[in-house]
Order: sequence, then C-alpha cells, then structure tokens
Amino acid sequence: MKIIKCHNYQEMCLCAAGIISEEIISCPSALLGLATGSTPVGIYKELVRRFNKGELDFSRIRTVNLDEYVGISPENPQSYRFFMDNNLFNLVNIDKANTHIPDGMETDPHKACRDYDEILDREGKTDIQLLGIGRNGHIGFNEPSDSFYPRTSCVKLAKSTIEANSRFFENSGHMPEQAYTMGFYDIINAKKIILAAYGKGKAEILNRALTGPITPQVPASILQLHPNLTVCLDEQAAALTTA
Ligand code: PGA
Repeated sequence: MKIIKCHNYQEMCLCAAGIISEEIISCPSALLGLATGSTPVGIYKELVRRFNKGELDFSRIRTVNLDEYVGISPENPQSYRFFMDNNLFNLVNIDKANTHIPDGMETDPHKACRDYDEILDREGKTDIQLLGIGRNGHIGFNEPSDSFYPRTSCVKLAKSTIEANSRFFENSGHMPEQAYTMGFYDIINAKKIILAAYGKGKAEILNRALTGPITPQVPASILQLHPNLTVCLDEQAAALTTA
C-alpha cells in the first residue's frame, strides 16, 4: 500500500488525476473504474483540464462505474449517470457507448445485477479503479454487512449514507433507499486501485480501514489485500492514519 499525503483537496485531486492520466496515456484503450460523490469532482476537473490542453485522448477509453440509485432516471440530476455525463463524459471525447453504469431504472433487481455483471465480465479487469470511501467505510454502495458480496447487488442504503446524501435530493425528489452496486470481487479484481479521501470526517474510518481488521463491517478494509493500492489523502483525512 502506498499512501500519498497531500496538503489539501486540490493537491489530492492533482495526485489522483496524475495517476489516472498516466494510465490513459500508457494504455489508450484502458478500462477505468470510476466513482461518484464529492471526492472525485476535482479529479475529473483536472482530467478535463488535461484533455483541453491536448494531453489526454479518451476516444478509445472504456469505463465502468461503481453504482447507481434504484428508481432514478439518467435525466435526474441526482443520478450517477447524470453526474458522470456532466462532470466528465460530456466534457471529453469519450464514446458514451463505452461508458457503463448500472441501470437504475431496471425494476427487477436480479436482472439489473446480472446485466451489469455481464458487462463487467465482458469488459474484463479494470486497469485502474478510483474509489472514495463513505464515513461508515463503504466502497461503492457496499455498506457494512456480514459478508463481502462478490458481484453486483441491490443494497439497502445505510442510515448514515441516506443522511449524508439526502441533502442533494432536496429539489429533485426523495432520496432512494436502495442502490445497485458493483461487488467486492470486481472492485478488488482491478489491476490498480486509487482510494481518494479528503476532510476530517474521513480520518477515523480511514485509519480503521487501512490498519484495522479486514472485516465486511468496514468494507474498505478489504483493500488492504490489494497488491497495488495507492491512497491519496489530504492532510485532514490523513490525520489519524497510522498506516
Ligand atoms: P463523498 O462520498 O465523496 O461524497 O464523500 C464517498 C462515498 O460515499 O463513497
């Protein structure tokens, strides 16, 4: 595990975007595993800046995202499809047909999950997977539970996740209570993983995830097993990390 402690959010974003850029340059048809949330916003901004400077070409890049809310259409500004389109895909020369996100409008959870697994199986290992971490240690929407579910599943969101994310839904309907999320096998199968976090709200859980027991009660703790994990943190998030 490599931990990079940056001074602030901007520097953390430059660091993570730098690693992703190297991947895009060295492998123009790379499969990127992407994340949503407040953490990657600045990372995507930096990738777009580099694209606009002519440094990056996304024309052959493929992507798979971690998760999507159940019952939210791609046109809903709170959907993760909308987030990805507006923070990255619409701003670079990626072919949208090569971008994949679970189908939040599929009402049969079994079908939604198997369809996404088929896409993940077809696309193969991600060359690099970007992850944030929830305050309860979730990665994707894999909430604390009794087991590490390997493949895509329909999860009931934890109370703390609903509390953390419901502010975004004030003007666009109710916060969903369920989501489709990529499972641990597909996350851990990545050739490289970047875990990015900022702010003091993540300091305690990061230390537990990186140095505590590996347990599905702290989902991100499974990342300790990955042979090529880089953790990009700002000073506040890194404050309690003894790793
Ligand atoms: P955040 O979410 O980037 O908005 O803090 C991270 C997560 O919940 O995985």
